[in-house]
Amino acid sequence: MMIDSRNLTLSLSQINRTTIFRYCTISAKPLTLQPQTRNVSCGCVCLMKIDPRSINQDSTTSNSKSEKMKPTIVIYGSSTGTCQGIAETIAAKLGVGALDVANISSDIVVANDNLILGTSTWGVGEMQDDWYSGVETLKSADLTGKTVALFGCGDSDSYSDTFCSGMKEIADVVKAAGATLLEGVPTDDYSFSDSEAVENGKFLGLALDDINESDKTETRIDTWLEAIKPFL
Ligand SMILES: Cc1cc2nc3c(=O)[nH]c(=O)nc-3n(C[C@H](O)[C@H](O)[C@H](O)COP(=O)(O)O)c2cc1C
Repeated sequence: MMIDSRNLTLSLSQINRTTIFRYCTISAKPLTLQPQTRNVSCGCVCLMKIDPRSINQDSTTSNSKSEKMKPTIVIYGSSTGTCQGIAETIAAKLGVGALDVANISSDIVVANDNLILGTSTWGVGEMQDDWYSGVETLKSADLTGKTVALFGCGDSDSYSDTFCSGMKEIADVVKAAGATLLEGVPTDDYSFSDSEAVENGKFLGLALDDINESDKTETRIDTWLEAIKPFL
């Protein structure tokens, strides 16, 4: 059907009944979709195919999970790059940014509803070095209403007694600051002796051993993300 109109308005019902292709030969004004009124106005030089499915969609309803997610950031501490690589993988899968905790600021904390925080474990069950100043920023923030998920990188073979324990201090800090801490993963799939980051049979976040079990890392990340996404 050829349409030549300077200001064409179609109701939604008309589009659903009749429209497959609309060809308009008018100038200047771009196609505008108006979900509130459920009308389509057109006054442009255009060749357009209108897919009724796209018209039926309310503008406030988003297509993908990442569009529905509240502002989210991944913040990591990493000394030799392992936790950084994992943080970047998690951020890419969520479609959000990853930030070295060395660059954390209260503005960044305030701007994000969801904080995905990752640390490797060093010393004897301690947080990665840069987190020591990082947690000071979290302590001084009001995390009420914010959601936190943790991930930790460790070595369950060489440091079996303190596997991924570094997550514990961050967990304590964010809970004290008012955040909701999402549940971590069950310990069943891991082989280690002890960890301060375990409560009631679960880690306080996602535990990863990219040194000895790198083949499990991707699946562990994916399973964990599927579990936490509904809360982000
Ligand atoms: C001196 C040293 C101490 C470590 N202490 C622990 C520990 O207590 N618990 C643990 O799970 N991993 C421990 N690790 C392993 C690191 O957490 C692991 O290598 C991690 O992948 C490092 O991540 P990063 O490069 O992102 O800092 C230690 C490693 C070193 C070299």
